[in-house]
Amino acid sequence: LHTTKKVLSIQSHVIHGYVGNKAATFPLQYRGWDVDVLNTVQFSNHPGYAHFTGFKFSTEELVDIVEKGLVGALGIKYDAVLSGYLPNVQALQKVAGIVGQLCEDDENVKWVLDPVLGDNGRLYVDEKCVAVYRNILQNFRIFLATPNQFEMELLVGMSIHTLDDAKRAFELFHEKYPRVARVVVTSLELSEFSNDNVYVVAGFDSSLSNEIFFYKIPKINATFSGSGDLISAMLTDSLLNDHGHTQQTLSTSLGQVLWLVTSILQRTYDLNVAGQDPHDSAIRIKDLKLIQCRDILKQDPVPTIGKPET
Ligand code: ATP
Ligand code: MG
Ligand code: NA
Ligand code: MG
Repeated sequence: LHTTKKVLSIQSHVIHGYVGNKAATFPLQYRGWDVDVLNTVQFSNHPGYAHFTGFKFSTEELVDIVEKGLVGALGIKYDAVLSGYLPNVQALQKVAGIVGQLCEDDENVKWVLDPVLGDNGRLYVDEKCVAVYRNILQNFRIFLATPNQFEMELLVGMSIHTLDDAKRAFELFHEKYPRVARVVVTSLELSEFSNDNVYVVAGFDSSLSNEIFFYKIPKINATFSGSGDLISAMLTDSLLNDHGHTQQTLSTSLGQVLWLVTSILQRTYDLNVAGQDPHDSAIRIKDLKLIQCRDILKQDPVPTIGKPET
């Protein structure tokens, strides 16, 4: 008999669409997690649309809810905390401080940290958040960090063009942040593979080997929102919810999660392009079709996307 795992997911909320907590909650619930959902902002929709409106919760409100409510008065024991978009420097600092302390006090709490800073060379948070994330990664015990390429470059202070750069970046990351046990870097664009039209997704588990491993993922001709949030949630599931199996390595989990995410993105694309001009280049996909992907989310065991390379 396996127990139901509990996760506290601290991310953004959109009323319409599927990013942040809306991209993480349903897939985690559908895969058997008890999800406590703390929304850091409430927006009408993803900022990728031409218009959006909404508000951010204040630092005091967020701190009160976690410190006084969830871990204080209620004394809830989480198996995992999944953190993503936090709206400002102060909220990031304070909330991370509480989560970090929780993980110091109880080694059974695993922190999956998505250092949400930006994408494709552009920050979407206050630039002071970069230094705050560097501090968090230095000071706290973190089970898994999931930066995209741009975020990895900011956290290690070097740009990544080649596979060798990527390997060096992982080494630097481990030197700077030895308390981070595992790292997955999503959608690396490496010059070696620029003709193959693939993204590279690379991982490193400090307890297993000094080597990084990576998977090559065929690019879908579209821009997705929420794919990063989905991948961090599904890695949390794959690594921490044993689904009755024994604990898996990061490379096995990543292969399975990439199968899930790729299948969901492909179906999202197929459902979106139906009725659109197929000659539109790099179609902007507004929202993941998570509900239409229940059969994919239900897979157990999850197939793998392939074999990792080193
Ligand atoms: P987000 O802004 O949604 O948080 P992110 O930049 O943090 O995203 P990405 O690296 O863009 O995260 O996306 C996560 C994963 O989704 C990638 O590693 C890749 O597997 C998949 N993915 C995203 N976009 C594409 C695409 N166009 N084609 C194929 N796979 C994609
Ligand atoms: Mg991206
Ligand atoms: Na990410
Ligand atoms: Mg992201």
